[in-house]
Amino acid sequence: PAKNRIVGSLLNKTLPPRAREILVNLGKVGDRLDLPVYAVGGFVRDLLLGSENRDVDVTVEGDGILFAETFAAEFGCRVKSHEKFGTAVLVFPDGHKIDVASTRLEYYVSPGALPTVERSSLRMDLYRRDFTVNTLAIQLNAASFGLLIDFFGAYRDLHDGVIRVLHNLSFVEDPTRVFRAIRFEQRLHFRIARHTENLIKNAVKMDFLEKLGGRRLLAELVQILKEKEPLSAVWRLESLGLLRFIHPALEASPPSHDLMEEARDVISWFELLFLERRYERWVVYFLALCDSLSSEAFEGACARLALNVHFQEKLKEMRRSAEERMANMEKRLSQQGRLENNEIYYFFKGLSVEVLLYRMAKSGNPELKRCISLYFTKLDSVRTSIDGTDLQRIGVPPGPRYREILDAVLSAKLNGVVFSKEEEIALAKSYLR
Ligand code: CTP
Repeated sequence: PAKNRIVGSLLNKTLPPRAREILVNLGKVGDRLDLPVYAVGGFVRDLLLGSENRDVDVTVEGDGILFAETFAAEFGCRVKSHEKFGTAVLVFPDGHKIDVASTRLEYYVSPGALPTVERSSLRMDLYRRDFTVNTLAIQLNAASFGLLIDFFGAYRDLHDGVIRVLHNLSFVEDPTRVFRAIRFEQRLHFRIARHTENLIKNAVKMDFLEKLGGRRLLAELVQILKEKEPLSAVWRLESLGLLRFIHPALEASPPSHDLMEEARDVISWFELLFLERRYERWVVYFLALCDSLSSEAFEGACARLALNVHFQEKLKEMRRSAEERMANMEKRLSQQGRLENNEIYYFFKGLSVEVLLYRMAKSGNPELKRCISLYFTKLDSVRTSIDGTDLQRIGVPPGPRYREILDAVLSAKLNGVVFSKEEEIALAKSYLR
């Protein structure tokens, strides 16, 4: 009863009214169809921990697809159903989504394979989940709205801060759970239970993780690297000997903690600039993580993770090209002490944000760091006010001269030699002569 009072007050007080209303409506539709409906998993976990989680997962004891279709018709949502899995996604007009599942039983035919699905009860449905803390359910039907269902001691584990599997074969059934255990442990500041940790060590010893497909391994690594504070989870991967599944060389030459920490600081710095540059934070961490790898080993890691071939090529090329350019730049810096803005611009132009941030973290040279920073904050967005049409107007004959003149004008602008459009035109004309 005490637990239910807590859940009741959390549902009333911490949930935004709109979210609560949706839960109530889900329960009403369940009542009408005479189906028990529950909010389950991460949503309940985070509700009890007082952290926001907008992803509501709903489980229906019975036909979840019928339930989703009925709900959608009444509340103006779109539904995407997967008959084979008995699941559906409700998409609200504002784009918000709710996953609906039918209670089901999954069989894993072999380690690392995708599950086969059949109907079962809520208890069985929750039993097949990864960790106790993800097995809580809250009933949504009106008569017992807010009732907390805890079959496996999840409330206690949440209270004690423990990540615990439900049975010994959990990691054999689904090796990605090894990564999930670490991700949750570090995110929630929990502890993996001793027996669970031994099962992980066992999974590392046996070859379950080698069988894990590249894309699934990548998805787990990316999720870890996308966490707000990913480093502690990376060190946990390291100490449990899991990095070798990305590439064996990561065991012999482990990633540098200093570099990873530097990458974290560079990322926070970059995000505080509020530049409208889209980039993938996880890629910066990935590059830093793989810093110790030779080009061949890096290629091997990308292949192991089944990165999109096009993306692999781009990453490899950027990594190589950045290495070369930084070396040249260091040389120029040691000769000249300081570089002109246009030189800095052309050194970095064409390199991705991710590679530049990684190199910024890697470089011990403060002047080089300053150059990268200047590039992001100022130089990269500089454009000439004139374009080809202006050159045509002042009588430049068509040809490669266009590019040369525009580049020269851009350099002058980067270096603060010209400011206005008139000055740019005057400069362009001077090249004509
Ligand atoms: N699940 C599982 N085994 C997996 C993946 C997921 O048992 N390999 C279960 C978990 O119990 C989880 C639920 O499926 O609660 C939904 O998965 P997901 O959305 O990945 O988990 P969340 O707990 O919502 O995680 P996050 O907070 O990172 O979104």
